[in-house]
Amino acid sequence: MLNRKFPLTRLRRLRSNSFIRDIVDENKITTDDLIQPIFVKDSDGIEEIDKMPNVFRYGLDVLIKEVCEICELGIKSIAIFPVIDSSKRDAAGSEAFNENNLACSAIKLIKEHYPDLIIISDVALDPYTNHGHDGVLINGYVDNDSTVSALVKQALCLANAGADIIAPSDMMDGRIKFIREALEESNFKNTIILSYAAKYSSSFYGPFREAVKSSSKLGNSSKSSYQMSSANSDEAIHEVAMDINEGADMVMVKPGMPYLDIISKVKEVFQIPTFAYQVSGEYSMLKYAIENGLLDNKVMLESILCFKRAGADAILTYAAKEISKELNK
Ligand code: PBG
Repeated sequence: MLNRKFPLTRLRRLRSNSFIRDIVDENKITTDDLIQPIFVKDSDGIEEIDKMPNVFRYGLDVLIKEVCEICELGIKSIAIFPVIDSSKRDAAGSEAFNENNLACSAIKLIKEHYPDLIIISDVALDPYTNHGHDGVLINGYVDNDSTVSALVKQALCLANAGADIIAPSDMMDGRIKFIREALEESNFKNTIILSYAAKYSSSFYGPFREAVKSSSKLGNSSKSSYQMSSANSDEAIHEVAMDINEGADMVMVKPGMPYLDIISKVKEVFQIPTFAYQVSGEYSMLKYAIENGLLDNKVMLESILCFKRAGADAILTYAAKEISKELNK
């Protein structure tokens, strides 16, 4: 006998086996969605990073081997982060606009071997300053306008070295406009700007700052006079609107996992390429939990899929290689 109270709609029908689940999946991760960050150091060889399991700093002598592995997995883009020796850091971060600095040398070397690989290069002074801030300090305050002038010079060096995407991650006001104008004037018309438009002042960056050896320089000083407060989301929309008006091609939300609402809102409001960064603290948190048997390693792919569902078009993750191996199986 038909029980009229029983549901005619059974949502479980479309979950009953893996084929039907695959067919109705709303989102999928492929290697096209993943961007692998790479730390580059100016001495030879490989060094594991203390607080980031399975993440390494690479000397230029071993960099191409690593990049080759990344390319063979089908990953199409990398983000370069230089680890600069203390002796080359100063208060103004002037090594940032030395045309032969480590970041530029790494870009040139990679482009010689893999011209099609998309190289994203951060624009910010923190790898180069002896105080660890992303800009120039005047009376202890990060000065916006003199920092922007320095960032323009840095961006031109990186574009000249062959970076495909310039990614200002410093959160100064007005820097996208000045960088875009300088790129146009210098005939880098196709250089893409990925603005870290909604970048929050976050403790999730801790392991990264150790990886690039800037945490001891920064000490207790915080970046909250330029990075956004975690309390805000309207402000993220304002930041993104401003950067698009100034000439950004794509925007980034960072960190990722605790900020999925921001990714979703930005994508919905602006409908432009929106990237998200699964930052060092998020990565290490999951990695340590996996290594200690607390979580299954499937959480890594799950977390990345959730970025995609929230609206991210691509995801920077230290797990890009490992996830790609999984996807290629
Ligand atoms: C600095 C920069 C940071 C990260 C990328 N670029 C740290 C910071 O703002 O202090 C963090 C990335 C991560 O934690 O993985 N311009």
